[in-house]
Amino acid sequence: MKRFFALLSILTAFAFFSGDLAFAGPEKDPLKARVPAKERGKAKKLKPPANLYKKAKKASAEIVAEGKKLFEGKGTCVNCHGKSGDGKGEAGKVLTPGPRDFTFCKFHKKRKDGELFWIIKNGSPGTGMVAMIPATITEEEGWKTLAYERSFCKKYDKYRK
Ligand code: HEC
Repeated sequence: MKRFFALLSILTAFAFFSGDLAFAGPEKDPLKARVPAKERGKAKKLKPPANLYKKAKKASAEIVAEGKKLFEGKGTCVNCHGKSGDGKGEAGKVLTPGPRDFTFCKFHKKRKDGELFWIIKNGSPGTGMVAMIPATITEEEGWKTLAYERSFCKKYDKYRK
């Protein structure tokens, strides 16, 4: 809860200080790694529970559907990342940098599952992407939302059953 209020005050501060809200918040350097350098090696090796999937882009349609439910509901991801995953959610509009656009396949290629999970868990330091685990969702739910985020890259449809 404390974190939530901290985030709210940051958002309010941005709303006051950024001049033209309509144009605020494009995402920044999506291909540049986000996990801090000293954590990155370990983060890349993080693995989902064996019963979920081996690779998020190959997760079953069932897991992806569970991830969608979490993304749009309990997880609150939709507020910033938008229903179609393009980073254009209402709450994301006031953030600088803006939320990630998950429809951009090149971004997915650049990131290991573990790196993205690390960000979902710990947040992206200094941005509106705050730590979501355990405050908002569990670790297992984090891996499920990750499978849904990968599915916004349509090229990955071919890997799914
Ligand atoms: C308050 C707005 C907000 C919410 C809610 C939010 N995000 Fe984000 N998210 C962001 C922003 C802003 C960034 C871009 C951060 C950056 O540029 O470093 C981001 C980036 C990301 C990234 C990309 C990390 C990378 O390596 O580039 C992932 C993955 C992600 N979010 C997952 C999620 C998931 C899953 C949820 C829900 C459980 C969620 N986000 C909820 C704002 C949000």
